[in-house]
Amino acid sequence: MIPSSGVGLHEFEVVSNEEVATSTWRLVLRAPALAGSIRPGQFMNLEVPGDPSHPLRIPLSFASADAVAGTVDLVYAVVGEGTERLSHMAPGQRSTAVGPSGHGWRLPESVPVRVLLVAGGVGAPPIVAAAGMLAGAGVPFDAVLGAQTASRLWGEERLSSLGAGTVLVTTDDGSRGIKGFTTDAMSRLLGERDYGLVMSCGPQPMMAGVARLARSAGIACQVSTERMMGCGFGACNSCNVTMAAGGYRSCCSDGPVFDAEELAW
Ligand SMILES: Cc1cc2nc3c(=O)[nH]c(=O)nc-3n(C[C@H](O)[C@H](O)[C@H](O)COP(=O)(O)OP(=O)(O)OC[C@H]3O[C@@H](n4cnc5c(N)ncnc54)[C@H](O)[C@@H]3O)c2cc1C
Ligand code: FES
Repeated sequence: MIPSSGVGLHEFEVVSNEEVATSTWRLVLRAPALAGSIRPGQFMNLEVPGDPSHPLRIPLSFASADAVAGTVDLVYAVVGEGTERLSHMAPGQRSTAVGPSGHGWRLPESVPVRVLLVAGGVGAPPIVAAAGMLAGAGVPFDAVLGAQTASRLWGEERLSSLGAGTVLVTTDDGSRGIKGFTTDAMSRLLGERDYGLVMSCGPQPMMAGVARLARSAGIACQVSTERMMGCGFGACNSCNVTMAAGGYRSCCSDGPVFDAEELAW
């Protein structure tokens, strides 16, 4: 059973589904009620047809939603059986999505002077959604975007077109931008400008480094977490996130976005 806290079951139709970087696909789907209600940092759970032996839905964040066109724009990496099948969904094909799920990014009541966004790999979609939220609220922002290698980068143009002041790109192998990690570029920007908030999504070790840097600079930090998910709406206890104060909370219904200070890294 799906709970009634705004989460619903939506039929969707694939508008387009194309590879935009190595093993990285952009999926545009039409689901008007979902497009009109999903907020930056929330996610949805997609049913991918074609293999009854894999009944679990795939949790995916989104990069943008267009309430007028009724479309949602997602970007995903093909990492296993489900995302491989998803990459074969063709325009016109239909399935269902459960959402909008979880709690997304929060703008503090005293709006920060400037925000720093830090994304690694396929952490980029919810960071692009955060950029859209900041642009809509008139809050200036810079971004750091990291990937293993240039061919896996996605999101730089989107961040620039949303009005990022500076976008620093890093790659582990130096094939594009700064050779190194997102935290190297983040340190550089922290030395140049004052930020009131950091928002980050990427691999757990990267976000731990981002949270450490933000803490030592005395800047509030929100992170978007990822866990393996069974149900996606708070019923199965499979997506626990360990809290600094002890105990656990659910990534799917309490998160995926948490204040970095709340988490046990
Ligand atoms: C809230 C949330 C938002 C997400 N947003 C995005 C997104 O915008 N773009 C994107 O590319 N991916 C995103 N993911 C990760 C995505 O859900 C997984 O990559 C996907 O479920 C893998 O399914 P699969 O059947 O292809 O892989 P599987 O065969 O199930 O697994 C392949 C590999 O991926 C790992 N994996 C599987 N599920 C997850 C998961 N939920 N989180 C982390 N690692 C996982 C497995 O440990 C394994 O190493 C998100 C996950 C969560 C929880
Ligand atoms: S996935 Fe079931 S409780 Fe979070």
